[in-house]
Amino acid sequence: MKITIIGTGYVGLVTGACLAEIGHDVFCLDVDPRKIEILNSGGVPIHEPGLLEIITRTRAAGRITFSTDVEASVAHGEIQFIAVGTPPDEDGSADLQYVLEAARNIGRYSNGFKVIVDKSTVPVGTAQKVSAVVEAELAARGLSGSAQHRFSVVSNPEFLKEGAAVEDCMRPDRIVIGIDDDEAGQLAREKMKRLYMPFNRNHERTLYMDVRSAEFTKYAANAMLATRISFMNEMSNLADRVGADIEAVRRGIGSDPRIGYHFLYAGVGYGGSCFPKDVQALIRTGGENEQRLRILEAVEEVNHEQKAVLVRKITSTLGEDLTGRTFAVWGLAFKPNTDDMREAPSRRLIAALLARGASVRAYDPVALHEARRVFALDLHDVPEQHARLHFTNTQDETLAGADALVIVTEWKEFKSPDFNHMKSVLKSPIIFDGRNLYEPDAMAELGIDYYAIGRPR
Ligand code: UGA
Repeated sequence: MKITIIGTGYVGLVTGACLAEIGHDVFCLDVDPRKIEILNSGGVPIHEPGLLEIITRTRAAGRITFSTDVEASVAHGEIQFIAVGTPPDEDGSADLQYVLEAARNIGRYSNGFKVIVDKSTVPVGTAQKVSAVVEAELAARGLSGSAQHRFSVVSNPEFLKEGAAVEDCMRPDRIVIGIDDDEAGQLAREKMKRLYMPFNRNHERTLYMDVRSAEFTKYAANAMLATRISFMNEMSNLADRVGADIEAVRRGIGSDPRIGYHFLYAGVGYGGSCFPKDVQALIRTGGENEQRLRILEAVEEVNHEQKAVLVRKITSTLGEDLTGRTFAVWGLAFKPNTDDMREAPSRRLIAALLARGASVRAYDPVALHEARRVFALDLHDVPEQHARLHFTNTQDETLAGADALVIVTEWKEFKSPDFNHMKSVLKSPIIFDGRNLYEPDAMAELGIDYYAIGRPR
């Protein structure tokens, strides 16, 4: 089938690549010529395992193209995916300007029946707005009600996780499709069915529902996951006070199939581009509909406080004034296998250490480039603090002479370091671990002063 993907961010690029991989003819559009240039010269603008390989393969097979040509993109696809950004507005609600601009272009250049798929995470009611915008553009061309230029707006939210996006896309748990119950909707349903056929071969994974419920499902899923994390983080803080071990508690509750093991890891708070933004946007939608979402307000508040948990542990051990101290920081990205620094807990942590007079030597296996960019912005107004932040090319280089090691992201390569070497190069053998990578008993045996999240020392 001929598919157009509007927006080559995480969601758009991964979706486009996977649809090309299963045999479709995919046209990817972006308004940013730099991104298209990178893609056309054989690169990928984001770090995502497996993505470059798929794009290289499908491009060689002639099934994926990248372009800034809006008119050609609309002409190409019988299915038009809108996968542009929906950044938070000043008030926390999702900013729909890019989504509606994409809709406007589809209406402006439409050359036949189009299935318009909202892939970006958008608030309940957005499909209706997209429909109205396309309709208005068709009307301006005198094509209102034209049988040839009919369209149907479908909600098909994306559930992929950064770092595992290709895998998630090729092996989805479920495909949620919200579709109107009219004639154009029926036609759209047939096309969506054909589009995703290869993913449904062994068993049917598609859940059809009305458009609003599909839009809502995406927010409810992320809000539920964020709630689990804040719940566990709050439990871990209590575990610290009462001397319980959150890791034992996690296993104890996860074994109940109604709870399950996934997403129960206490840590330094959730980050990334999705949870913080989607929780805020849902609270906002609640407000607009006179329904206060008190649980989600608490989820956000707990998460905000949790991002300071390591600093609290550090200052209660080493004192509020950290002048002259040096910290080795392992992990900068908001989670492993990505270079994404959006809402990364490392940003608050490092800013707080620098503000208290400390120096920081930081390392991340893939996010160093992005981290340099982001910290230059974050610390723009405090050059004296920025000067005390250094990035190193290996994890070992951070350690020499540092007062303590602080672990923020659970990259695989941090899981079994040479502790004896670490002890010999750190000024004092102290680890503040925001991801519970090691066993407190083993650390005690090694003579390492080990502070984890919700674990007794
Ligand atoms: C999240 C969802 O997991 C995806 O299903 C969804 O499609 C995506 O948002 C989206 O809306 O696009 P992502 O933001 O890539 O995916 O990252 P996650 O793996 O969910 O992690 C989010 C944050 O939660 C990270 O900061 C992670 O460290 C933290 N986390 C996760 C914990 O602190 N504890 C856990 O047990 C799990």
